[in-house]
Amino acid sequence: MIYFGAAYYPEHWPEERWPEDIRLMKEAGATVTRLAEFAWATMEPVEGQLDFDWLDRAIDLLVENDIDIVLGTPTATPPAWLTQKYPHTLAMDEYGRPAQHGLRCHYCVNSPEYHTLSRQIAGAMAQRYGQHPRVIGWQIDNEFNRICYCPRCQARFRRFLKEHYQTLDELNTRWSTAYWSQKYTDWEQIPFPSPTSGHNPGLLLELRRFVSDSYRRFQAVQIEALRPHLRDGAWITHNYMGWFDAFDHYTLAEDLDMASWDCYVRTGHHDRTTQAVVHDLTRGFKRKNFWLMETQPGHVNWASINNMLNKGEARVLAWQAIGHGADAVLYWQWRSAYGGQEQYHGTLIDQSGRPRPFYEEAQQLGKDLAAVADLLGGTEPAAQVAILNDYESRWSMSWQRQHRDFDYVTHLLNYYRPIAERNVPIDVISADASLDGYRLIIAPVLLIMDEKRAQALADFVKAGGHLILTVRCGMKDRANALLSARQPGPILAGIAGVEVADYNILDEPVPVGGGWLTGQSHQWAERLNVLDEDVSVIARFGKSNGWLDDQPAITVSSGHNGLLYYVGAYLDEEAQDVFIDHVLKTAKLKPPFDTPAGVEICPRTNAEGKTAYILINHERDRKVVSLPWKAQEHLGKQTIDGTLDLDAYGIAVVTKAN
Ligand code: GAL
Repeated sequence: MIYFGAAYYPEHWPEERWPEDIRLMKEAGATVTRLAEFAWATMEPVEGQLDFDWLDRAIDLLVENDIDIVLGTPTATPPAWLTQKYPHTLAMDEYGRPAQHGLRCHYCVNSPEYHTLSRQIAGAMAQRYGQHPRVIGWQIDNEFNRICYCPRCQARFRRFLKEHYQTLDELNTRWSTAYWSQKYTDWEQIPFPSPTSGHNPGLLLELRRFVSDSYRRFQAVQIEALRPHLRDGAWITHNYMGWFDAFDHYTLAEDLDMASWDCYVRTGHHDRTTQAVVHDLTRGFKRKNFWLMETQPGHVNWASINNMLNKGEARVLAWQAIGHGADAVLYWQWRSAYGGQEQYHGTLIDQSGRPRPFYEEAQQLGKDLAAVADLLGGTEPAAQVAILNDYESRWSMSWQRQHRDFDYVTHLLNYYRPIAERNVPIDVISADASLDGYRLIIAPVLLIMDEKRAQALADFVKAGGHLILTVRCGMKDRANALLSARQPGPILAGIAGVEVADYNILDEPVPVGGGWLTGQSHQWAERLNVLDEDVSVIARFGKSNGWLDDQPAITVSSGHNGLLYYVGAYLDEEAQDVFIDHVLKTAKLKPPFDTPAGVEICPRTNAEGKTAYILINHERDRKVVSLPWKAQEHLGKQTIDGTLDLDAYGIAVVTKAN
């Protein structure tokens, strides 16, 4: 089934009110609620004195109303007694100042005391509720995010480096520390700078790896506390924040059963591709369906302008998440608390305890999801195109942008957008994931290249796959040092039949053109040397700075079963559309059927190969979709023979009629 519900905080409310809150939840069609992720001080008001009675009663009431429960471990908000008694559990900023109580995630992720205390509370919760038949899943902490700079973290970082490099000689060589006399003769000399400090690139990359490792260990402490008590089928997740990149999400996701994320539009309105790509990113963490653990009921309270989404827009957002593999949509939060920092956030129930206008929209979603629960349960999106995402390349690039506007995610979106707009499904996966089963792989700014990665990409092309390497690919090794070969590195240059003679950072766009492609490259241009006769030049740079004039900009090599495009330009949107049309056509990748612009098709297929198509009108005018076959529409429960009308922000779920 597809779950639907909200985050609920019974601890904010007098118990007499709970039945009414939960009645309204049931009336909205809620099938799940998330509880307790900030309730440590209520569950353990005094050290060692656990009080779960209130939570038992809240859970009982929910179960009476047929609502399942996800429990959050409360470690993002330790109680005040805890941070007072154990001050070393507080994180320190880079100037050595401890965090203050009353915010969130203010703990030191490596604090042994905090590990112990977290293990105890998570373990106690699991002992009490792990076997509960209606507690279906567990969320660890809430949106990991902080870096702690305390002396203990610093010492751990040095131990981490020692384990990795073994000797200072090795570290000094890999980090090129002869540069600016950075050479270390004692592990204690190695600094622990902020990732934005502009420090040595090798050091910064290890720092990010260390932060990833620290959160993984902290998460593992809790997984180990939970797992032995959980019944079969109960899952463990963490709620990520989309493109947030303080740690490597693939590393952390390895130990989870399922990924989830919190999707907020913030200021303005939803954008079809920027939202969709994060669903695909999150699905890629475990390469399976995920949960939308939080999303905004209308508006948030923390953006620059907390505007209300248009009527119907949240419904589109919810269905798009489902279309991209969400098996649940939960609003944050159910009801406005009187106090606390989030008084102005959107909710379903207002401060008076009555449904807000938005409630009706949520209720409609609840009804619709109930109508397709059986149809969509057990289905998944499937894609033949994968975009590779790599945190290490992203970090490396962002520390040394060379052009202030060059942004890793925006560049990735320049590939994602035209494919998504053509309704060709896409996976976003780790650059180290298996490439089996794909027809087209795109490696945007895959800057960090080692032999294993390069070989996997080369093998993919040799097996007949189509591969796009972009600007800034194959520049550095795993220690964030420049490769001792030209881009894209020796293995891939061999297959691409080109090498990058030089990169030019552009203060102004330069023309790019060939037979069927005309446009501009902005921010970046790579002048290519063609090495092989199997290589065709698709486009050249036009007249510009003299260095680039008439030089190859985009090539394709056809000498190895598949095709390898090297794109040495950062194309403008129109030219990118033309280029992607060509690539998709050549790879024989097509949408399931044609739709008017602004209508998205999201197929979800079950194990027997039966596909349900979620159709989403992202725009505010009516659209008419011609279906290629006689169809069953499952929300309006009608048979469609020919055309289907989609109202403003309209949704349809169709299958081929038998
Ligand atoms: C999320 C957080 C929630 C709530 C929400 C408000 O980042 O996980 O607890 O604060 O933002 O939009």
